Amino acid sequence: MGAVLDGIKNRRSIRKYKADEVPKDKLLKVLEAANWAPSNGNEQAWNFFVARGEAVVKVCKVFSDFARDYIPKAAYIPDDQKAAMLKYAENFGGAPIHIIITYELFEGNAEKTEKSLMAACAAVQNLLLAAWEEGLGTVWIGGETCHSSITREVLGLRNTQKIAAIIPIGYPAEAPLVTREDVQSKITWIGF
Ligand SMILES: Cc1cc2nc3c(=O)[nH]c(=O)nc-3n(C[C@H](O)[C@H](O)[C@H](O)COP(=O)(O)O)c2cc1C
Repeated sequence: MGAVLDGIKNRRSIRKYKADEVPKDKLLKVLEAANWAPSNGNEQAWNFFVARGEAVVKVCKVFSDFARDYIPKAAYIPDDQKAAMLKYAENFGGAPIHIIITYELFEGNAEKTEKSLMAACAAVQNLLLAAWEEGLGTVWIGGETCHSSITREVLGLRNTQKIAAIIPIGYPAEAPLVTREDVQSKITWIGF
């Protein structure tokens, strides 16, 4: 198996991290990989925010405040998993750094905005894979915390910057096993 395929298949979302600091040169390497993602017309309408210390604590609080209310009420989450999820929600499993990838909102141009989000998502996946190669764990966080005005304020986002992903990053303290549905069930061959 080639290195890219190896990374694609063996990268896992990590929800438990060691407290060890991540050297800045490693962070730069994964950010460089993100920045080489494809984008519409090579617009590269993404930005990277690298948060550490107090900013990480504040973003974690947004998530944990939401989760403390949401998780106990969520019918689809089995009761015996709720305590572990609430623990994870305290600080995303203890990652010392968060990388936030934003895309650009083009007012009045929904198509360009959509493409900007698509490109930012490609940058996210590049970053996850490069981090894996560097021995770092990551998890793509979407949803509530990304839309929060508190998160936006902590990062100092412009009004037109939207969050595609919050990515806790650090050395993994777990090695989860996850499977996928059979790819054959997803494919429609046309003209074969
Ligand atoms: C758009 C998007 C949003 C996600 N949001 C969350 C999230 O809020 N919390 C979380 O723990 N994982 C989140 N994930 C990670 C998925 O849960 C994970 O990728 C999936 O369970 C498959 O596991 P794997 O990444 O280890 O293969 C998200 C993934 C994507 C692509």
